Amino acid sequence: MGELTPVPVVLDCDPGHDDMFAILLAAAHPAIDLLAVTTVAGNGTLEAVTLNARKICTAAGLHDMIIAAGADRALNGAQGTAPEIHGESALDGTDLPEPTVPLADDDAVTVMARLLRESPRPVTIAPTGPLTNIATLLDRHPEVKPKIERIVFMGGTTGRGNRHPLAEFNIWADPEAADLVLRSGLPLLMCGLDVTHQAVAGPEVFDRLRAVEGTLPAVLAASLAFYGTTYREIFGMPGPPLHDPVAIAAIAEPEIVRCVEASVVVELIGEHTRGATVVDLYKVTGRPANVQVALELDRERFWDLILDAVAALAGGDG
Ligand code: BDR
Ligand code: CA
Repeated sequence: MGELTPVPVVLDCDPGHDDMFAILLAAAHPAIDLLAVTTVAGNGTLEAVTLNARKICTAAGLHDMIIAAGADRALNGAQGTAPEIHGESALDGTDLPEPTVPLADDDAVTVMARLLRESPRPVTIAPTGPLTNIATLLDRHPEVKPKIERIVFMGGTTGRGNRHPLAEFNIWADPEAADLVLRSGLPLLMCGLDVTHQAVAGPEVFDRLRAVEGTLPAVLAASLAFYGTTYREIFGMPGPPLHDPVAIAAIAEPEIVRCVEASVVVELIGEHTRGATVVDLYKVTGRPANVQVALELDRERFWDLILDAVAALAGGDG
């Protein structure tokens, strides 16, 4: 049997501690060909998260990575960041070198449209921040839609939220953008809190991380420790959940998540529920399914993938 061709992927993110691990996993996994890292305001300002993306790629030795900056606010003009979770820099507690990987001249949407047009194969888009760039791409460049294989996003929840009682942060930060993506008719896979809260790093993950040789693993362990503290203080969770790499793992190894098909819509006007993802798990609305919703994660395999990625990139010049 011949080698499988890696899946071309654009990662649209807002690093962010867990976005950082998403970048590392997407860059290192042999089943993924990471075409670009694009950024969107979310965990921090656009300036902060873009600087973080460049620092991460520099530390991991991803010197040729295309990095492009996108939206600095939601479609409706709002700006909601998450300093209580990720710190003011959006990546507090993470000692990374100054970046040498440059920023593309073109903005994220222009770069994504170009990559889609030029790719011989349809491209998978992996948003791990608010969906602003993706909504703008679909709105501004509808002609590239056939070049999108599917959108595998971290966001949403079938139940409780983490930014509001029923709204997960990425969807809460730009509900109009999420609405546009959910109604796009494109194949969608949602990795929401149901599945990402199964990716909580326990003490054994820290031990395994610290056991990998090199500067980068030590920096990552310290970074996770910071992120773990905020999750413990705010949510009472026993460790930090690596939300975003779950979406990447689901692209690299689809069997790592168990999914169900469901209708998913986003609440745009609810007084207490704006940004909530309404997931019709029991098919009570009669609305057609538009999303594959991930519900279960193969935790053991997930952590193996994360640790393998770190080991593979630890030879970078972090
Ligand atoms: C999502 O919000 C951000 O804080 C994380 O990076 C992740 O993408 C989890 O709700
Ligand atoms: Ca994120």
